[in-house]
Amino acid sequence: MKNKKLTAQTQLDMLVDFGRQLSSETHFDKLLALTAKQISKIIGARHCFIFIKDEKHGEWCSKIARGKGLKYTEVHLPAEGDSIAALVARTGETVNIIDAYNDPRFAKGLDLITGFKTETVLAVPLLNKEGRVIGVFQLNNKENGAAFDKNDEGLLRLLSNLASGNIEIAALYEDVKLSNTEIIYRLAITSEFRDQNDTKIHLRNIAGNSYRIARAMGLGEQAAEVIKDASLLHDIGKVAIPDYILLKPGKLSEEEYELMKAHTFYGGKILQGSKSKVLRTAHKMSLYHHERWDGSGYPAGLKGEAIPLEARIVAAADVFDALCMRRVYKNSWKISEAYKYMLERSGKDFDPKVIEAFKAAFNQIKMSYIGAEPRRQ
Ligand code: C2E
Ligand code: SIN
Ligand code: SIN
Ligand code: FE
Repeated sequence: MKNKKLTAQTQLDMLVDFGRQLSSETHFDKLLALTAKQISKIIGARHCFIFIKDEKHGEWCSKIARGKGLKYTEVHLPAEGDSIAALVARTGETVNIIDAYNDPRFAKGLDLITGFKTETVLAVPLLNKEGRVIGVFQLNNKENGAAFDKNDEGLLRLLSNLASGNIEIAALYEDVKLSNTEIIYRLAITSEFRDQNDTKIHLRNIAGNSYRIARAMGLGEQAAEVIKDASLLHDIGKVAIPDYILLKPGKLSEEEYELMKAHTFYGGKILQGSKSKVLRTAHKMSLYHHERWDGSGYPAGLKGEAIPLEARIVAAADVFDALCMRRVYKNSWKISEAYKYMLERSGKDFDPKVIEAFKAAFNQIKMSYIGAEPRRQ
């Protein structure tokens, strides 16, 4: 790339390619990384920053700082400082600097962080549909040692326009995803904290076990993420179980156990009828996580593959964790004993394929339990 001028045709091909890649990436950080990479390539710049306003900390943050030998991948600048990012955001105008250290608009702040000497800069605002500045694209030091020209300015503005819609949507999506997961997690805690001292560990374990089993069964990243989030809610129905049963230090009477079993039914009630993928998965899990492969479980006595896969996965994840943890009614088991039990119950309580996956993922699964073992009493 160095010292080689790209032909217009090559640039056009790259643009088309860039547009296509943009629309297939919804993950925020990955989208920024992709954008920074393509932009430095298309225009030919040594460093590329994509500053996004971090409202909470009052900063311009570039999570993606591309360039050979950059010490940091993340750069933070004050929102109202004298940086070029702040200047572009304030004025909404393109800044093209030919000789940085002899230009009054240039502040050394970024160089002090990156340890690089800036010579040339090209920066444009990233505008959303309403024309509000949501970020700044900044290129430092053109590849061939020349200055950025009018062509580069136009090209960077075009790229910025191309990318802004996707960046804004990805940011919103990220926010929704985060708050969703947080709400699910908080909801799960309220339902679990009554009967377990280690609710957070328990929930993290169940989610982790479910995710790893799902992946080992060959499910994709996204499907496994859904299973992971949904698994947090599998016991939500316990909110409806009275304390005298849930917290009973000893063995439940037959009658009490019958009432306890209804937590699957209540969970099903609480979660039924949702349009959300995670909640629909959670619904199946809460209702069917105590079904058994051989049909001897509850509440419906479903057998084999009639039990939804998500429920078969969380069933194994849950029982393994319940065995390893101390409960008001039982001591914790050794990891090795619990592992042996899971294998013994394959084809009886558990789907043999789920147990195969559990075995395959066990090296990872057991990592979450090793520190926990001394809690045994
Ligand atoms: P949990 O404590 O989260 O246990 C989940 C499941 O793990 C149990 O479902 C069972 O399949 C398995 N499990 C837990 N501890 C043991 C154990 O010591 N041995 C064996 N073989 N399996 C174990 P299950 O039995 O349907 O119980 C559902 C829930 O009912 C339990 O959730 C717990 O909240 C409650 N529960 C069950 N038995 C008792 C009990 O004797 N006393 C009290 N207080 N609660 C109980
Ligand atoms: C800055 O934005 O603070 C410095 C400008 C630059 O190094 O490009
Ligand atoms: C239960 O309460 O359903 C049993 C344990 C668990 O599912 O976590
Ligand atoms: Fe349960």
